Amino acid sequence: MTILVTGGAGFIGGNFVLDWLARHDEKLVNLDALTYAGNLETLQTVARHPQHVFVRGDIGDRDGVAALLRQHRPRAVVNFAAESHVDRSIHGPADFIQTNIVGTFNLLECVREYWSGLDGEERAAFRFLHVSTDEVYGTLQAGDAPFAETHRYEPNSPYSASKAASDHLVRAWHHTYGLPVLTTNCSNNYGPYHFPEKLIPLVILNALAGKPLPIYGDGRQVRDWLYVKDHCGAIRRVLEAGVPGETYNVGGWNEKTNLEVVHAICAILDRTRPRADGLGYREQIQFVADRPGHDRRYAIDAGKLERELGWRPEETFDSGIAKTVEWYLANPEWIEHVSSGSYRDWLNKQYG
Ligand code: NAD
Ligand code: DAU
Repeated sequence: MTILVTGGAGFIGGNFVLDWLARHDEKLVNLDALTYAGNLETLQTVARHPQHVFVRGDIGDRDGVAALLRQHRPRAVVNFAAESHVDRSIHGPADFIQTNIVGTFNLLECVREYWSGLDGEERAAFRFLHVSTDEVYGTLQAGDAPFAETHRYEPNSPYSASKAASDHLVRAWHHTYGLPVLTTNCSNNYGPYHFPEKLIPLVILNALAGKPLPIYGDGRQVRDWLYVKDHCGAIRRVLEAGVPGETYNVGGWNEKTNLEVVHAICAILDRTRPRADGLGYREQIQFVADRPGHDRRYAIDAGKLERELGWRPEETFDSGIAKTVEWYLANPEWIEHVSSGSYRDWLNKQYG
């Protein structure tokens, strides 16, 4: 038995691959284009794992994906591969359209062809799991009910619009062709191996480096935060027991303003790595220009996943953020290596 994972050298995909190989004997083929966000160092401990096959390639490469499916004959495909950073999608949406929409379309077509050729039991058991985001639902006001799976799609950024488009393609491939698809829509993840251009790792690393902690606008935007290992558990559960054609929201029941998140990180660092001058890390907070079209609030109702498949997150925000800060303190090499020239170019472009 084999599963094919795309985007398995990224943040969530990488955590998923590591968790999967630690729990299963099943072979995992990992297809990743190794964009700026893909990092083989995340997979260093499984580089020679007998059940892990890493293939550098693009989900938009039709011949490459078709050949991989023919060669490895997976029982499931889990699609993490995407351009995932909202700010980058504002500076340059083209890659998002290409990978998230055209790439997903290509992957669906290759998988449909492969799945059509399976027989009997294999065909019935096959699953295509598409990993998506809560951002497709748009924004909430304070006091609105959290997003349920039935909430209408109202994406507001090039990133979320491209993910919404991919979700619609996945849905259509089920309704039109019968492809057994599952879609998960998850809130903000955090944890080990998070590329340091997203809020939580950026703040941890800037704090330690004595740099400003940039807060967009008034910092009162709300996100729901889920520890990445909990997301991996939810995906495994949906893959195992989800009903084809269904979508499942995944969330941590942890709504926080961005300021609360940054304050929590500062408080942990004040205890574990106090500043030499005796001041708190909050001193480094700097309010900067807001993100254009910045969604005010995301909140996820993950009740369906709990009721139907019995999944709940294990980490609280306090336990998850403590583990995360600890991981970044313990892994300076990983950080140094991802903080390459291209990463520094991005920081200059975004923050000046
Ligand atoms: P990431 O940017 O860290 O990783 C994406 C990975 O995909 C990278 O390894 C990259 O090299 C690879 N990739 C990009 N384009 C590719 C292509 N054309 N072909 C093959 N590989 C390609 O992203 P992430 O944060 O790990 O997110 C993974 C998935 O989860 C995405 O689909 C994202 O939309 C979704 N998601 C992310 C979050 C979050 O908080 N990070 C929350 C909900 C959903
Ligand atoms: O909600 C799920 C989404 O979460 C995923 O689909 C995306 O792939 C993932 O990147 C994440 O998107 P966000 O835009 O919410 O994550 P980010 O870490 O970029 O920002 C989190 C919040 O912090 C957001 O309100 C913007 C704010 N922010 C971010 C950065 C990088 C700041 O205030 N300052 C910053 O420097």
